[in-house]
Amino acid sequence: MTESSGMDIDDASLRLTIDIISAVAFAFPRTAVDLGQDEIIECLPNALREIQKRMTNPFRAFISSKEARRAMHCAKVFERACRDMLVHIRHCDLNNLPKNDVGRQLLDVRRPDDGCALTDEQLIAEIGTFLMGGLETTAHTLSFTLYCIAANPIVQQHIVQELLAHNLLRSTKHEPLDLTFDRLAQLLYVDAVLKEAMRMFSVVAGFPRITDQDFYLENLRIKSGSFIYVSLYALHMSGLLWDKPEVFNPDRWFSHDNLKDSYAHDTSLTTDVDNNIRTFLPFSNGPRSCIAQVISATSKHGMLLTKHIL
Ligand code: HEM
Repeated sequence: MTESSGMDIDDASLRLTIDIISAVAFAFPRTAVDLGQDEIIECLPNALREIQKRMTNPFRAFISSKEARRAMHCAKVFERACRDMLVHIRHCDLNNLPKNDVGRQLLDVRRPDDGCALTDEQLIAEIGTFLMGGLETTAHTLSFTLYCIAANPIVQQHIVQELLAHNLLRSTKHEPLDLTFDRLAQLLYVDAVLKEAMRMFSVVAGFPRITDQDFYLENLRIKSGSFIYVSLYALHMSGLLWDKPEVFNPDRWFSHDNLKDSYAHDTSLTTDVDNNIRTFLPFSNGPRSCIAQVISATSKHGMLLTKHIL
């Protein structure tokens, strides 16, 4: 790359994310590029777009179009990649894998009805859910964060100061220390930058729910069994909840003392006490919230600071 040529940061973030998820969750030793699995990066958005369109128009499933055929091809490519991953997991010496390796745990799962192991089709679906849930969310969050940093030179200076203060950047005096979990946890400003980027550019725009009881929104009665959509964009950008929401301001995360100790995934601290409402929910809330909040928060910090990116 020459100095004047651009670089597609989102593409780089996607490749880095797929490698990290594969390595961390499935002990996958090689990179996506080695395996030709970077096709996933091209195919997954096409397949997801078609799913979304079918949610609003189920008849699409019965109408053949060039777009739909392409989406089906993409879905097959994705499925093949997940199948490859399963073959890899089956060939691993499970005793050498960490106990919390997702692949190892999936093989240990027993179906509650008959006590049998999951079938290959079920395992492939689980692997696919993991990749689908983690890939674009993490990578686009990283890209938006890098955009916010690039557009705010003062934020860049603060990050450099924080990294220097923790001996994590090369200086004239010493080589940088290794990035460890403990050291990551001390980087409060970097944490605030990530939170602020996730507030403004929540990659999951919102989530659907079906209410299980009647409730009132002001004077509006929402009946039990209603389909509702919680918009994260509206929540995170509301002038009623955030001061100047349209301004990228990591410092806002330090105005509440407790927040200094929180991690990005710890949404419990972002509650508007007076109104008893959660104001920051990038990973959703409750039993169906993101299963990977901790790994995701940690990996984004790590990726942001890795020498490949910053
Ligand atoms: C910045 C990164 C991420 C964000 C913002 C994010 C956000 C979310 C949100 C909002 C939900 C809940 C959707 C709902 O309530 O309907 C969710 C669910 C989920 N996420 Fe994430 N996620 C991220 C990273 C990841 C990663 C890295 C993985 C896996 C490797 C992952 C796996 C999942 C799965 C499997 C679910 C479904 C949980 C369930 O239905 O019980 N996510 N995520």
